Amino acid sequence: MTTSEPLLQVRDLRVDIGERNVLNSLSLDVEAGALLVLMGANGSGKSTFGLALAGHPRYRVSGGSARFAGQDLLALAPHERSRAGLFVSFQAPPDIPGVKNNLFIRSAMNAQRQARGEAPIDAFDFLADARGAARRVGLAETLLGRPVNDGFSGGERKRNELLQLALLRPRLAVLDEIDSGMDIDGVRAVVDEVQALRAQGTAFVVISHYLQLIEALQPDRVLRLADGGIAETGALDLARDIARHGFARAAATVGA
Ligand SMILES: Nc1ncnc2c1ncn2[C@@H]1O[C@H](COP(=O)(O)OP(=O)(O)O)[C@@H](O)[C@H]1O
Ligand SMILES: [Mg+2]
Repeated sequence: MTTSEPLLQVRDLRVDIGERNVLNSLSLDVEAGALLVLMGANGSGKSTFGLALAGHPRYRVSGGSARFAGQDLLALAPHERSRAGLFVSFQAPPDIPGVKNNLFIRSAMNAQRQARGEAPIDAFDFLADARGAARRVGLAETLLGRPVNDGFSGGERKRNELLQLALLRPRLAVLDEIDSGMDIDGVRAVVDEVQALRAQGTAFVVISHYLQLIEALQPDRVLRLADGGIAETGALDLARDIARHGFARAAATVGA
């Protein structure tokens, strides 16, 4: 990767779900260590963007390009994208009955360590790290030994996404409404984890409607997604404006 190339460079990305076109020309750059907030009305394609980056098979990329850490992201299988340092949290995290949470996370961590040429983390060190992270994100330790998200409440599922983020320490994390369903302590834990990881160089695309969270994160840029692409780019004022006046206003003034 040349020093001038951003960590993620998306150009004219087009994504279809079945017969339906959702994103038609989305372009954005995320520099290493930057934090972007992505806003947009319900159904504008925010989750589609994250899931297409992750390589979800239902989200078919039918045009454009995405380069990540100097590689053609779209040419990689989903697990290779993860190994390259991409993390995408689920807006609605699914459960995986029969797969223990701690084993799931440790396997993911070890796959990434292997990709970096590092030895697997031993069970004892993993448990110490996982317990520490669980405490920080406010997830009961007993949930580490249960199947992934099985019987978890909405907020616990989101905290479990945050736990995975904390342990995997990606180069770029796309957080899809991670605050929704969380109580106020959960939202505080999001801010703390994001800040801790940012200090270590992780870049973020944070999808959220929650102004208080957005303000606390001090984003480098705020983007508004509409009509299949980035319709507007600004600073915190853009998020404040949307929070005050809604997306309908934004469409009326910018579209004019
Ligand atoms: N599996 C699916 N099948 C058909 N349409 C879908 C599917 N998932 C999402 N969509 C549609 O794609 C559009 C974008 O959805 P989404 O990316 O979830 O929006 P956002 O996250 O911005 O609310 C919506 O109109 C939604 O109804
Ligand atoms: Mg969504």
